[in-house]
Amino acid sequence: MNTDPTSGAVGAPRSRIEGRLKVTGAARYASDVPMPDLAHGWMVTATISRGRIRDIDAAGTLAMPGVLGVLDHRNAPRLNPRAGNYFGPDGSLQLLQDDVIPYAGRPIALVVAETPEQARAAAAALRVTCDVEPHDLDFHLEHPAARPASTAFGPEADTGDMDAELAAAAVVVDERYCTPEESHSALEPHAATVWWEDGHVYAVDSNQGAFSVSEVLAALWSIDRERVHIRAEHVGGGFGGKVACGPPVILASMAAERFGRPVRIAVTREQVFEATASRPPTEQSIRVGADADGRLLVIHHRAAYALSPLAEYIEWCTEQAKILYAAPAIRTQLTAVPLDILPPASMRGPGATPGSFALESAIDEVAERLEMDPLDLRLRNQPMVAPVSGLSFSSRRLVSCLREGARRFGWTARDRRPRSRREGPWLIGSGMATTSFGAGVFPSSASITAEKDETFTVSIGASDIGTGARTALTAVAADALGVGTDKIRIRIRIGDSDLGMAWGAGGSRGTTSWSFAILEAAKKLRDNLGDPARPVTATADTTAMINFQPDRERQTYSAVFTEVAVDTATGEVRVRRLLGMFAVGRVINPLLARSQVIGGMIMGLSMALHEESLRDPRTGRQTNGDFAGYHIAAHADVPDIEADFVPDYEPQDPSGFNGLGEIGTAGTAAAIANAVWHATGTRQRILPIRLDRVLEPATTVDIAGELRVA
Ligand code: MOS
Repeated sequence: MNTDPTSGAVGAPRSRIEGRLKVTGAARYASDVPMPDLAHGWMVTATISRGRIRDIDAAGTLAMPGVLGVLDHRNAPRLNPRAGNYFGPDGSLQLLQDDVIPYAGRPIALVVAETPEQARAAAAALRVTCDVEPHDLDFHLEHPAARPASTAFGPEADTGDMDAELAAAAVVVDERYCTPEESHSALEPHAATVWWEDGHVYAVDSNQGAFSVSEVLAALWSIDRERVHIRAEHVGGGFGGKVACGPPVILASMAAERFGRPVRIAVTREQVFEATASRPPTEQSIRVGADADGRLLVIHHRAAYALSPLAEYIEWCTEQAKILYAAPAIRTQLTAVPLDILPPASMRGPGATPGSFALESAIDEVAERLEMDPLDLRLRNQPMVAPVSGLSFSSRRLVSCLREGARRFGWTARDRRPRSRREGPWLIGSGMATTSFGAGVFPSSASITAEKDETFTVSIGASDIGTGARTALTAVAADALGVGTDKIRIRIRIGDSDLGMAWGAGGSRGTTSWSFAILEAAKKLRDNLGDPARPVTATADTTAMINFQPDRERQTYSAVFTEVAVDTATGEVRVRRLLGMFAVGRVINPLLARSQVIGGMIMGLSMALHEESLRDPRTGRQTNGDFAGYHIAAHADVPDIEADFVPDYEPQDPSGFNGLGEIGTAGTAAAIANAVWHATGTRQRILPIRLDRVLEPATTVDIAGELRVA
């Protein structure tokens, strides 16, 4: 449905504006901008999980060729301890400020030299001695330090009479689900090139939001934000791991100030794993009760995740339990477990992705107990209004996703019983899952200039982390201005904190937030156009226009269907088919949107079958922190994927849009786990679904790596 009568550019499949720059190598990333007089920093990271630095002996390092100096907690510039994030002061930003080691991988020194090779060699020669304290990485739901999570994203649910509904239920599923620590694994490792000039700091950084990074860096240095200039024009992926003001830009800003030269820090892949961010492990307990007709009576979702005491964080696993199904009693309890770990960060559908694995596995288990088709069970329990908030839904095209997905997949031909299909050594099964993901907008500003030559320049502090945001926003601007994109009449400038306040590429809310600001700027410009001989600029800021208490529940939806083959001899799981139907509002660019949700589904597949950060319980250090040991789905793991969008229009958005950055990932892991059950008759409640877990269902290895015999 395209209800915009002036539409032309929005809705058309166009390839990326910067595609040629990228494939020819002309696009410059944070670690390859040319820079005269450049020095290079190398991070030295903690090898213990908790303790204190007793001494750092830099004598040998300082004598090595090319070394300019070493920064550590004794001599580094002092940072503002109150600098923080959305939740308040954030200790993960306070690098080199004290002798405390809060997690393995914490940067504890920076060696600066003329070349990266010299810096690396000198960093290896630094002698650090520590006092080791016992660490705690023993994550589980009943951990004694567990505490209620922040409710900053929304209150817990507690509707209905849970005990009465449980007593009335014909079947109750009561199970636990675990997901491991995972790593964002963007292709481009984090990097920053930083220099100071006249009390201003300039950085080319790899991040997901140049404006918010500029705010945090300004706070750390206690300087005006206008003195901080962050560029992030091209970013090789983020997936949540580059939302923060990361260690490279913080440490390089210190070194550049100290040595009076531009400093670049390009971290290694191993350092990305240990020192940047991760998705925390989760353990989730779900009780779902239903009557004999398959009407859900109770959903009780308890979820725990790990975090660091250094910074508040929410892995909002329980959101979907409040949205997806009608049940008279719904209760959610989200628990945070502080441990000596790398502070976690949003990753690929934070909360929703591990949360949907648990919830949508449990719903499948209800269907199993009732001997009911899991598609029918889901169709039977669609709510008329949001079951917990009581709000009506904005646009909820979930049933369309379910029906159209089932039709294309050929779901109805399926034999519901497990272990009903075999091809030689392979057991074949199919499974499905549904999800929702919150949608909305955040404040942003945008400027549009009508140039003398009848072209337009659109400036917005947006980020294109590989998603195609530049291309999508150009189409949005073209329609807002009523001009075509074909004659390159629109030039778009993004990825620069000097372009003004803007939301980052995160929370699946970048494109909606930026589009809103562009639309408003275009309206103003059209009102202001006067003398065509002079350039005219209009600027808009949507802050005052955004209602954070909308009167309807605004979400995106998906239905994912999959077919898997399980090798009974080796335990190998092959995903054969993967089909996703999505409801994401009006689609700006079908080509890029499809590419993005396919990427998301691959990440879901990767989560289901491959990804887990493993730690040595003695040291707490990750033992597989590289791409040899931490497997992410590669070409050979990925089947034919079909992804499409049901016609949709978001009435709460001025252009009908919703975000689609993360809905592709959520849902896929549960669909695969459900298909593995259908193939084998055994539930997989711990991710990833490893060979050993398939072969020995009576034995599980918990996420700390300990063998437990059930
Ligand atoms: Mo995203 S995981 O909100 O960058």
